[in-house]
Amino acid sequence: MALFWPIAKVLCFNLAAVLGVLIYEFYLLRENYIRYAPALEDKDHTMRAAQFSETGEPFVIKTRTIPRPQCCEMTQVLIKVGTGGLNPVDFKMRRNANINMTRALPVVSGFDFSGHVEQIGSGVLGYRPGDIVYGMLPLQGQSWGAFQEYVVANYTIIAHAPTKISAREAAGLPLVGLTSIHAMAPVLRAWQKQGQSSKDKKILVHAGAGGVGSFAIQYCKHVLKMHVATTVSAPKAVLVKSLGADEVVNYKEQKFEDVVKNFDVVLDTVAQEYEQRTLSSSVLKSGRHYIHVLSSDWQPNSREENPLILMVLPFLRKWGYSLIADLFGIGIHYHCDPVSPDAQGLRSIASWVNEGLIKPVVDRSFSLNEVAKAHEYLEKGRATGKVLIEIGTITE
Ligand SMILES: NC(=O)c1ccc[n+]([C@@H]2O[C@H](COP(=O)([O-])OP(=O)(O)OC[C@H]3O[C@@H](n4cnc5c(N)ncnc54)[C@H](OP(=O)(O)O)[C@@H]3O)[C@@H](O)[C@H]2O)c1
Ligand SMILES: *[C@@H]1O[C@H](CO)[C@@H](O)[C@H](O)[C@H]1NC(C)=O
Ligand SMILES: *[C@@H]1O[C@H](CO)[C@@H](O)[C@H](O)[C@H]1NC(C)=O
Repeated sequence: MALFWPIAKVLCFNLAAVLGVLIYEFYLLRENYIRYAPALEDKDHTMRAAQFSETGEPFVIKTRTIPRPQCCEMTQVLIKVGTGGLNPVDFKMRRNANINMTRALPVVSGFDFSGHVEQIGSGVLGYRPGDIVYGMLPLQGQSWGAFQEYVVANYTIIAHAPTKISAREAAGLPLVGLTSIHAMAPVLRAWQKQGQSSKDKKILVHAGAGGVGSFAIQYCKHVLKMHVATTVSAPKAVLVKSLGADEVVNYKEQKFEDVVKNFDVVLDTVAQEYEQRTLSSSVLKSGRHYIHVLSSDWQPNSREENPLILMVLPFLRKWGYSLIADLFGIGIHYHCDPVSPDAQGLRSIASWVNEGLIKPVVDRSFSLNEVAKAHEYLEKGRATGKVLIEIGTITE
């Protein structure tokens, strides 16, 4: 009995801490998306869109004629879309039966786009009709998507597209670029606090040939001046070396943990067994940084249907590991900061592209009528760089 109350107090404290952490993380997640009001429908005008009314296999996506989004509230911009960029989150949402918790069906596929400004709201600063812009729509809250002829977005989440590449190629950059910057941000902050720079720090970027990997390698190498190792299958080694990778691990023949040791950071876009193998080996030096990006798998799986495993565990690990690392200086710092729209980030990406530090890597493109096929292709998990959707012509 004497032990009961102390133990109960500790348990209650733990439970309160866990709940507090989760409420905070989910609040942030929601706040990052929901604050951008979705546009209303413009019943007088229609457009073509790749939309699905039920979740499941790729063929649920149909190209339909639907009302256009209405423009413009004060801070909104109407954009005629030239090209869309496909990401794994697109097929993960399409096949996730729980999608209606965050977006009401029917929804239009796609988040990344580039195109030109057609109309602006009265409170929009810095954009004029005709400007070529690019951006990532909020992942939650609205049923509009990027794979439609016109999108309406808050001007605070778009940016002028880089001028040194085509607007078409720019459509592949927002989500993967912002993912890379947001993933590295807490690590860079930690180094800054310690008076250190990123120069020559060692990072392992998993799936270096993918959308995120092909951007992250260039960002870490050419912008942050880091030493970069990456995992790819043999045919893609030449590509990742050309992007700036210093060390290439053929993951089909070698275990990365056997060759990569005592690194400063791991950016893990594969997670699952890679996460476990990273955390239980000497890939990372003590006190260094593991970055989780809420990844599930390219194949359909129960993991992504289960928010407890997909979201709750990484957030709890993030706080648990970091508490121990901060307090006792042991173990590793675990980061998990999912991507969200960010105009400042897009402006930085455009300037790095214009300086020649980052080049777009495009695998192939599909037409607006072939979005289902594009999903099917990306879902195989073998894409090299970005898959694009050609939606309209824009003159540059
Ligand atoms: N939460 C977030 O903020 C966030 C943001 C962006 C992305 N993500 C997640 O991050 C993951 C990656 O996204 P992505 O856009 O880069 O995907 P992607 O473009 O579809 O990646 C495809 C690449 O992954 C490589 N790959 C597949 N399995 C691999 C393995 N076991 N080891 C090493 N490489 C492997 C493939 O190379 P090979 O052909 O050589 O196997 C292929 O080139 C997705 O799960 C996505 O959902 C999360
Ligand atoms: C536009 O974004 C700002 C914050 O950046 C927000 O305060 C405002 O409500 C948004 N407007 C719409 C219409 O989404
Ligand atoms: C979401 O869809 C599922 C399955 O179709 C359904 O059972 C559930 O009630 C829906 N939830 C909401 C919030 O609409």
